[in-house]
Amino acid sequence: MCGIVGYIGKKQAAPILLEALKKLEYRGYDSAGLAVRSDGGEVNVIKTQGRLSKLCDRTQNGTAVEGTCGIGHTRWATHGEPSEENAHPHKCMDGTVTVVHNGILENYRELREKLVRNGYTFYTQTDTEVIADLLDYYYKKYKAGPVDTIARFMMRARGSYALAVLFKDCPDDIYVARKDSPMIIGAGRGEYFIASDVPAILKYTKRVYYIENGEMARIGRESVEFYNIDREPVEKHCVRVKMDENAAEKGGYEHFMIKEIHEQPKAVELTLNSYLNGEYVDFSDCKLTDKFLQTDEIVIVACGSAYHVGVVIQYVVEKLARIPVRVELASEFRYRDPVLGKNALVVAISQSGETADTLAAVREAKERGVRTLAIVNVRGSSIAREADRTIYTFAGPEIAVATTKAYSTQLAVGYLLALEWARIEGRLDDVQCAAYIEELRSLPQKIEEILQNKTPIQKFSADHPTMKDVFMIGRGIDYAICMEGALKLKEVSYVHTEAYAAGELKHGTISLIEEGTLVVGVLTQRGVSEKTASNLEEVRSRGAFIVTVAFEGDKIPVEANGAYTVPATDELFAASLIVVPLQLFAYYVSLQRGLDVDKPRNLAKSVTVE
Ligand code: AGP
Repeated sequence: MCGIVGYIGKKQAAPILLEALKKLEYRGYDSAGLAVRSDGGEVNVIKTQGRLSKLCDRTQNGTAVEGTCGIGHTRWATHGEPSEENAHPHKCMDGTVTVVHNGILENYRELREKLVRNGYTFYTQTDTEVIADLLDYYYKKYKAGPVDTIARFMMRARGSYALAVLFKDCPDDIYVARKDSPMIIGAGRGEYFIASDVPAILKYTKRVYYIENGEMARIGRESVEFYNIDREPVEKHCVRVKMDENAAEKGGYEHFMIKEIHEQPKAVELTLNSYLNGEYVDFSDCKLTDKFLQTDEIVIVACGSAYHVGVVIQYVVEKLARIPVRVELASEFRYRDPVLGKNALVVAISQSGETADTLAAVREAKERGVRTLAIVNVRGSSIAREADRTIYTFAGPEIAVATTKAYSTQLAVGYLLALEWARIEGRLDDVQCAAYIEELRSLPQKIEEILQNKTPIQKFSADHPTMKDVFMIGRGIDYAICMEGALKLKEVSYVHTEAYAAGELKHGTISLIEEGTLVVGVLTQRGVSEKTASNLEEVRSRGAFIVTVAFEGDKIPVEANGAYTVPATDELFAASLIVVPLQLFAYYVSLQRGLDVDKPRNLAKSVTVE
């Protein structure tokens, strides 16, 4: 997704803008640009296609662009191909208004036609150029200043936006507006910062303002004022973020992904300990009462890896609490007019807390009067602020596009919720809960043990550099784990990988098995692992290359070409351990292929547009 940044203060803006954009590279982009107002009042725009390093070169790391007020952008193309011309910032026709934008202007065609009828011409294919000209149109037509202009835009625009705007004749201000796309405002001493995400400004300040949907702000060097869409002032307080700048650095690892894989023991331990009080689960900090949790219908909504967490938690909750759980892709849930019982509880899982589809699913549930509970990693994110209750994970900043530690900490919260529902339903007594909690407390160390045994995975990745059409199969929770393993391999190594319910292969897909096709079999669910083993035999007899992943000490009822084992744990918690070798496998294959493992092609860390 696009990244926007802004700076106004006493220092030269361009170097600060470039540094901040570097911290947003993980969001995914194909071009970059910045606009800086010179002391003479001119707004100079420089933009380049490709990596941010090109913009740094073009501006000599910002030193060639003078001025103490500016905005910057990394573009993830939605309307218009990736090109220098379509890169942001965009000016209106006569340069009065300059804009950077993260989001999608859904009614940009009708607005563009309106502007053409009013004499505007367009030079790019972007929706953002329409925003710049529409602001200019209102600014000139009503002559009521930037706040009125932006309010009129917000009333007319449909879609999502995080906007930063420079008005040529307002040299001491930057204006911002927000709807559905993330933005925060950092407060320094005599200087202010704008960013799509906290890591971009941590180097300068930890004091931030959260701007809500439908709000705008005027940001000067000494003050910031907020307004609602009716142009009324809105009182806001600065809050202090608890994120550590170093946490958003690589800390000696070669890539963020491998660093974050290694942070899993600590992240899982911190998350568990944050909600355990001795031998009891304690969600009181999240204002989660038994009354709020009591339900006869749980609907989990999420996307991507967070959805895969939901599938695991469905099995665990139904096993322990016997409450019906269904897991829905948020992008489907939001449009399918779901049937929700009046006592249903919708659980949204999201690392970023900004995924557009998941946010929309939360809103859909709330519009139907259904309680919403969010499991989120980023403090103060939209989903966290809009859900009725939020349980934060303690994964810390996750920079790699491919999620790892956030997935693991979401699982940890899901297990604790399952124990709470089982207790509320009277399915587990304190002794039984305590036994599960004791096993949960052993997971961080077991993950650590796996991380000490990476060599076989590295070697296997090196021995199979040309693999394609990989299958990962399992039953029950093993199948859910395969979903995440397959996504990891796909997204960072571009190897086509399918997760399949082992029992389903013979219903068609087995026709794809050829000589040497790699099939990974996950075998931790002891009640069904023999059946999965039979399915592995079926594909092996058709030429597949079989690798099994299972608990140490378990008998593997199939002769495999390769086998990897992890420390044993309760079957219900298998995903927390089995996912680690699958994450490592994806990472090493990506390296083997010389790919950009932290910033895979076409992907963004947080999908804030639908
Ligand atoms: C996971 O590796 C992917 N980057 C992606 O599937 C991600 O899990 C999904 O976009 C959901 O993001 P969220 O957790 O921030 O909502």
